[in-house]
Amino acid sequence: MSKARQQWKSRAGFILAASGSAIGLGNIVFFSANAYKFGAGAFYLPYLIALLAVGVPVMMVEFGLGREKGTSFPLALGRIGGRAGEFAGWFAVVNALMITMYYIAILGWAVGMWWSALAGDLWAETSVAVPAFDVPEGALPNAIASFFDLISSPRNIIFVVFVWLLNIGLVSRGTKTIEGAVKVMVPMIWLIMVGFIIQGLSQPGGVHGVFLLFTPDFSVMGDINVWHGAFAQIFFTLSLGFGIMTAYASYLPKKSDHTTNAVVVSMMNCSFEMIAGFAVFSLLFAFTVTPKASTLSMMFFIMPAAIAELGAAAKLTGAVFFTLLLLAGLSSSISLIEAAVSAVIDKFKTRRVTTVLAVSLVGIAGSVMFALPMVIDGGLDSNGTLGLTILDLIDHYAFGYGLIIVGLVECLIVGWGLPVEKLRATLNSSSSIQLGRWFDIMIKFVVPAILIFVLGYSLLTDVFDVGKEATPGLYGADYVMKGFDALDVIAPVVWLVMTLGIGAALALTPGHKGADGE
Ligand code: PHE
Repeated sequence: MSKARQQWKSRAGFILAASGSAIGLGNIVFFSANAYKFGAGAFYLPYLIALLAVGVPVMMVEFGLGREKGTSFPLALGRIGGRAGEFAGWFAVVNALMITMYYIAILGWAVGMWWSALAGDLWAETSVAVPAFDVPEGALPNAIASFFDLISSPRNIIFVVFVWLLNIGLVSRGTKTIEGAVKVMVPMIWLIMVGFIIQGLSQPGGVHGVFLLFTPDFSVMGDINVWHGAFAQIFFTLSLGFGIMTAYASYLPKKSDHTTNAVVVSMMNCSFEMIAGFAVFSLLFAFTVTPKASTLSMMFFIMPAAIAELGAAAKLTGAVFFTLLLLAGLSSSISLIEAAVSAVIDKFKTRRVTTVLAVSLVGIAGSVMFALPMVIDGGLDSNGTLGLTILDLIDHYAFGYGLIIVGLVECLIVGWGLPVEKLRATLNSSSSIQLGRWFDIMIKFVVPAILIFVLGYSLLTDVFDVGKEATPGLYGADYVMKGFDALDVIAPVVWLVMTLGIGAALALTPGHKGADGE
């Protein structure tokens, strides 16, 4: 006899958890970096179109799937598409777990930088030396020296493991602990962000940055890269294609109003993203720092450099900035871990504590690999460590391809297999926003067509170097596949073997079909 499936205590708890998942590092730095790169103000239009055409409908599908099947992502897809459907679900979970590994490594670095902000290295007169890179004292800007000092020292592993322990604590009792955490964390994230906006706008020159962000450059609208960037950004920022939203929605009563939930969560996420743009741009422009950068350099080099200019306020502001990153990141990483944990529990009926520990052990091993300080990247063309290079490469596939493939497959399975008419009828039966026939057409034709375009364009870019800057790396300022460097070939192979291999093994292992209990 299985126990009753765990449930959120309130609808607000669910909405906070889902929006906490969506609001993450991507909202604070990635959006601004992308927007600026893709024509600032002009990026908003493709972004909003991507949100409405793909983001909101796919979120409805993911919520609807959780409601309809009352189980996590792989089993929910399996009940519609058989073994192949389940395999697609496990592919998503393994892909998500790989993202978790580096996502948490980055959060560990945020904790390390928080420490440097408080201890003072970040604002010192002369920057620290970085022996591993043969960099003498004072040779680099403070933030860059502190970051490389951090990741080239074993202490970075301690920070990374520490963030894993926080995550383990937060998912240990499932919805109970997650709900308690997000009720505190999500309001704090908003509060800190509002504080940053006020601070940014009150700097002389700060408003100018916001103008810049909102000055459209419509000449870029005809550029395929901009559209490609907008669709990729929407998937990542809304946490779609991970199986997260299905797992979270499966912990709600059947009667929930999921069309409204999807609209509310998307709007919370995207409004946060836009106001984060205000804060980032006003702070950066007050100090004329260029925001053109990859996500990691934005987080660890550029924002700290702008904050350093605040003088006496720098120390506290810096610590608050890294606290913000940690809170936003944690409310996302717990959702990633929960998606994997719930999938394993549903299929294998394992105990929660054992499952959390097992998934975390695998995760810790992966995160440590990304954070390994010893291997300095000598000949690999980027001024980082081997860990950073691997991180860029895996991110390129897991994020650039993995999420979009999952989105495409889930739309096809739900659209044609369930089929979508049935999903729409169930969603409508308990929702205040009623979906019309247009929804069926979106899920069956329009969204798949757009996602096939995105995937095709990424592939063309990688193979034939079309429009190179379409795929900037997370770390590398402009990662492009360089041809046939060993790692460039090994990375996609490792990614494919892990996601397809482990995904297939999990799908083929006999288990439960996902009765509603846990
Ligand atoms: N949505 C998060 C963001 O915008 C990213 C994320 C969510 C990453 C879930 C992984 C898993 O930053």
